[in-house]
Amino acid sequence: MCGIVGYIGKGKALPILIDGLKRLQYRGYDSAGIAFQNGKGIEIYKTKGKIQDLQQILTYPLPHIRLGLGHTRWATHGAPSTQNAHPQSAGGVVVVHNGIIENYRELKSLLIAEGHEFSSDTDTEVIPQMISHHLKKGRSAIDAIKETAAALRGTYALGIICESHPDTLFAVKRGSPLVIALGEEEYFFASDIPALLPYTKKFIFLNDGHMCILKQSGLELKSLDSLKTLPVKDAVIEVDWTPSMAEKEGYDHFMLKEIYEQPKAVMDTLSEWIDDPPKLLDELGITDRIKHLRRLHIVGCGTSYHAGLVGRYIIEKFVRIPVTVDIASEYRYMDPIVTKGTLFITLTQSGETADTIAAQREAKEKGAPAFTICNVAGSTSTREADSVLYTRAGPEIGVASTKAFTAQLAALCLFGFALGIMKGRLTPVEIETLKSVLMDIPCLIRKALKTDAKMRKIAQTLVRAKGFLYLARGVNYPVALEGALKMKELSYVHAEGYPAGEMKHGPIALIEEGVPVVVLAPLDGLHEKILSNIEEVKARGGRVLAVTDSPAALTGKVDDLIVIPQAHPALSPFVNVVPLQLLAYHIAVTKGCNVDQPRNLAKSVTVE
Ligand code: AGP
Repeated sequence: MCGIVGYIGKGKALPILIDGLKRLQYRGYDSAGIAFQNGKGIEIYKTKGKIQDLQQILTYPLPHIRLGLGHTRWATHGAPSTQNAHPQSAGGVVVVHNGIIENYRELKSLLIAEGHEFSSDTDTEVIPQMISHHLKKGRSAIDAIKETAAALRGTYALGIICESHPDTLFAVKRGSPLVIALGEEEYFFASDIPALLPYTKKFIFLNDGHMCILKQSGLELKSLDSLKTLPVKDAVIEVDWTPSMAEKEGYDHFMLKEIYEQPKAVMDTLSEWIDDPPKLLDELGITDRIKHLRRLHIVGCGTSYHAGLVGRYIIEKFVRIPVTVDIASEYRYMDPIVTKGTLFITLTQSGETADTIAAQREAKEKGAPAFTICNVAGSTSTREADSVLYTRAGPEIGVASTKAFTAQLAALCLFGFALGIMKGRLTPVEIETLKSVLMDIPCLIRKALKTDAKMRKIAQTLVRAKGFLYLARGVNYPVALEGALKMKELSYVHAEGYPAGEMKHGPIALIEEGVPVVVLAPLDGLHEKILSNIEEVKARGGRVLAVTDSPAALTGKVDDLIVIPQAHPALSPFVNVVPLQLLAYHIAVTKGCNVDQPRNLAKSVTVE
């Protein structure tokens, strides 16, 4: 969950490393550090805190350095401190690491027995210690890295420099994401693409068990096990993301920008396939399986899991086949039953979430064809899945997921739509109606964004609330979960999403004078029922903030009324989620919380 970056080339390494680290800071921000070859040896600067703190300890003007690496940390082993910050070094070997070395205690004891002295509490320090150990025994740097990697258990993306190789940068990957970027007479590596978008559009996603040796004159890919040289040309992909996509572009926060980008994210995701949805199934290579398709099994984490839950309602409604949705961290250990005729779908923005990837592997091992809905081309889930449907949300930088959620809903609708057509579950009239209501969604989201100013005002009256309850029914129940998740992660207050009909079975006890209860009350088949739930909350003194497309029945009956545009009832989550994202955003801003980098979180959770 840490971010790593490396540079070698004709340019100025230090500003590039600092800039890359700033773009990676959403992955972790407990400490930061850089190391570089200065012509005489390796210099290391590191500190507890953020990249700004790191900048404070550098000497200006920054020297013109051609090779270096950097790290921004999300602490796992060892407290966030300068001593535990990366780079970690030993015997002229300097390493930045993203991942977890599970057997580090064992390796550390062995190294201590050999006389090595450790100076940090990190799992990472065993890596430079082991590499230097092998170097001292006369091994080449490549052999020393190979042997060290063979001894490591766990996950790692590593950047390595050695005093003995002042013109070389080594990158190694197993289990944690790492991209190599190719510029003109310059090469980079980083934990993800947005960190390097200002410099190039050409990337290689390093495979697990591969090493990349980068020099200014070129790069070489090798298998870590056999040290066999691998072809570079076929591995290069060109991305269509632009640098401005990874900038705030005048917004105060990435999250706010991304909330506002939702109409585009949904439109871009839909427009690729909406004219001919069955073509999508062809492209995914699953047309032949449709006849025997009995069940969909969707798996994801956090916001992606919530999108999967919404997808279940929509797909079951229009396709009439059962859909199961599981949390990836549970699925991977539940010894899942994979039946014939099941299509397994992972939902993941990053394509790097460790639990989701493990679940995908588990399903594949058990014989289910795995298909992923993902936002990042070339990421692990896309490389390992049998087929991929891309969400076109562009880079999502804010740790709290927003536009990825609505883009995932769009992808699930498209997929369900295509299945419904191919399975003959939709009449020609329904097909045309669905096409037009789907294409209307971006415009409806745009209208829902007009609730922004009102949500800001309401947020100011709710900053002192100690907890929130979010209630909804049917397809909007997962939106209540998502609204509560946004509130928890951004504002650090307890928030719970509940199916409104379940309130009487327990959570109603939480309601007392002034407790804020956010209720989604669209005009759908359950409208009357949700109105009754609102009465129940009001009768106990709760403060109701109702989000509705049908204000008539609620005027004067609730404390705050947020009116959103009317969508097709099955598609109302697209618009209902918008005011909930804005509410969490404005409460967090008003409380002075770090919106784009909430405490303890990281954007891609690449560890278990
Ligand atoms: C939500 O705001 C979070 N950032 C988190 O729950 C996220 O959705 C989850 O970690 C899954 O990430 P993924 O979609 O990249 O797999």
